[in-house]
Amino acid sequence: MDVAPSHNSMDHSLPQHVAIIMDGNGRWAAKRSLQRLKGHEQGAEAVREAVRGCGELGISYLTLFAFSSENWSRPVEEVNHLMGLIRYFFRKELASMNDAGVRINFIGDLSKLPEDIQGLAKEAKEKTKANSKLVLTIALSYGSHSEITHAVQRLAKKIQKGDISPEEINETLISQHLDTVELPDPDLLIRTSGEKRLSNFLLWQSAYAELVFLDVLWPDFKKSDLVQAVEEYGTRTRRFGAL
Ligand code: FPP
Repeated sequence: MDVAPSHNSMDHSLPQHVAIIMDGNGRWAAKRSLQRLKGHEQGAEAVREAVRGCGELGISYLTLFAFSSENWSRPVEEVNHLMGLIRYFFRKELASMNDAGVRINFIGDLSKLPEDIQGLAKEAKEKTKANSKLVLTIALSYGSHSEITHAVQRLAKKIQKGDISPEEINETLISQHLDTVELPDPDLLIRTSGEKRLSNFLLWQSAYAELVFLDVLWPDFKKSDLVQAVEEYGTRTRRFGAL
């Protein structure tokens, strides 16, 4: 995968961290009288497009919602197909993403994934850990409620052991117990397909993210859609609650 050098990494109208809810695979397939699975296959192609586009624009962090904790309740055939696509994506793309300087990272409850995918994820993370061009975080079996619940449990255990007092819990400490501990908060959160919901994605982290909802269905997502969202982001005034 070819990720060209950034052209404006100091430009503050450019988001440092873009997060995407990739929605509309099923509708893309239905519009073509195809099986939903075909929509997911084309969606995996759009993932390549998004990674390449972020690299070319000089965006440093891209986080993709690939499989939610709620997606486990989809028909088993669809779940298996999505797992197959994720498996195929890592087998096929790892070397080229590594060459392009992409560091691969994961959030979510990976222990629920098939063991070989857990192995591929570990391998991808380990192989690319020295890269710094773009941090690509894939959310797998991820949901904010579950992530925050786990963080609370870990903090409660620390209190129980006497390692911290309840008064020491502050926003920084909570952030440090989330899966995203190594990531800055997203500046721009994009959802495709025209739906306007966050669907349990990065709820804590997106407190001040700019939200852009695109009508394009995810399998049709192109670099031009990313550019459109980034341009929209550039027109927003971010005040973070201040004046
Ligand atoms: C939402 O569309 C999309 C998903 C639940 C899966 C996203 C997965 C991919 C894009 C492919 C695999 C990912 C990687 C990283 C290789 P939907 O099925 O909810 O669409 P609908 O709302 O139109 O039914």
